[in-house]
Amino acid sequence: MRFAVAALGALGFLGGVATAINPIELKNRHFVDSVTGKEFFIKGVDYQPGGAASVEKGGDPLTDPDKCARDVFLFQKLGINTIRVYSVDPTQDHNECMTILAAAGIYLVLDVNTPLEHQHLNNEEPWTTYTSMYSEHIFGVMNVFSGYDNTLAFLAGNEVIFDPKSAKASPNYVKAVVRDMKAYITNHVHRRIPVGYSNADDLRFRTALAAYLECGDTGYIDFWGVNSYQWCGKNTFEGSGYDKLVEDYKDYSLPIFFTEYGCNKVRPRIWQEVDALYSEKMTGVFSGGLVYEFTQEPNDYGLVSIKDENAVVLDEFDSLGDAFGKTPKEPTIPSGASSPKRPVDCPAASTMTGITANFTLPTTQGAEYIKNGVDNTKFVKGKFVTGPTLTTAHKITDSEGNEITDKTIKEVATYTQSDVPEGGIGINIGGGTGSGGESSSGSGSDSDSDKKNGAGSVKSITFGWSLGLIAIGFAVFL
Ligand SMILES: *[C@@H]1O[C@H](CO)[C@@H](O)[C@H](O)[C@H]1NC(C)=O
Repeated sequence: MRFAVAALGALGFLGGVATAINPIELKNRHFVDSVTGKEFFIKGVDYQPGGAASVEKGGDPLTDPDKCARDVFLFQKLGINTIRVYSVDPTQDHNECMTILAAAGIYLVLDVNTPLEHQHLNNEEPWTTYTSMYSEHIFGVMNVFSGYDNTLAFLAGNEVIFDPKSAKASPNYVKAVVRDMKAYITNHVHRRIPVGYSNADDLRFRTALAAYLECGDTGYIDFWGVNSYQWCGKNTFEGSGYDKLVEDYKDYSLPIFFTEYGCNKVRPRIWQEVDALYSEKMTGVFSGGLVYEFTQEPNDYGLVSIKDENAVVLDEFDSLGDAFGKTPKEPTIPSGASSPKRPVDCPAASTMTGITANFTLPTTQGAEYIKNGVDNTKFVKGKFVTGPTLTTAHKITDSEGNEITDKTIKEVATYTQSDVPEGGIGINIGGGTGSGGESSSGSGSDSDSDKKNGAGSVKSITFGWSLGLIAIGFAVFL
């Protein structure tokens, strides 16, 4: 059941706007619009104004509607459909910012971790930080953001594995976090929001980690994120090594997209890689990507500079907007593109060079929350608001130094507040509580197996592979 949340939404519809901010689902190795069934290609930017330093001071980019409106106005100018946010505070109110994004037709890919204590894994000694408090935080983030239809996906981790030490210590903890998040969805999230991992694109670990997280019946990711900075300046598909990247992943069974791209070693950036990314050279394997990053920070990747809460557009914002503008509105997939089967059996650990592929996952530290859910008053389920303010009081200056006076966000998508039933999808999507060498609960969720509330029975149709897995999971492990 859906109901229109806002008169504005209805107006947009009457005005002949066809787009709706429908939830995105997984289908084979692509994302699809759950209503139209069309493939969804991510065209977006990474967005964390102030970076980690700001998060440490309590900053969360989706809590201040006036700043959100300033930036969403610019997102729209840039022509994007998705942003990625690295850290949020789930105890804050994100309703108006998420509504503004929805009205502008923009989805959110959200990392569940933060740089704060108890909110991320230590990648050399993950066992010291994989705790009940950590679990509460990541489930809290999921609880809040699962209320919004424009939450596209969750990221269980970003570059947790990035050197030999972390490659030895962390892989089975990352898989455990994915497993925990999925168990939480099974019991407490009404729709199957994809859970993925964002990888430091290091050739020492790339192939092994991708395979390790893709496989098995428990703790498998739903998509693979690649942080890639290999196309710098004027280059080609072959010269940049993008051809090798596509080749390496051509038989991967899951959606893949760039969770970060945009090499800044050659300035100005001219964004030739954007053209390649949405062309048939890549669309069979890659579902678009996110440019790093929206705001200018000390590491000099920004498209927009924020000073005293006012925005100044930089030249590379304009050139990126031009590059996005030249990409097809609906990218096409090459006809010969393969559609690998799922589930994928795990290769022998010894073949996964570069990482420790330990298939015994640590026992969950979040069992209590997986069973009972997190506190719904502390982590309030998100809800769209009626009549969000679609303009900003902050100043916006274009790249030529002229102040932009009409800062009204165009309402391009209808957004409705979905009915969010209690309980989760009720099907096993690779969640569980883990064995850690002790007692195993292979069924993936410690809820009653007859718990089938939520939208699970409807949504499950889209996920042929998960149904297959359940069958296998029950046959083999119960
Ligand atoms: C595999 O991981 C489990 C759970 O963290 C741990 O108990 C076990 O010692 C690990 N095995 C190896 C060989 O490292």
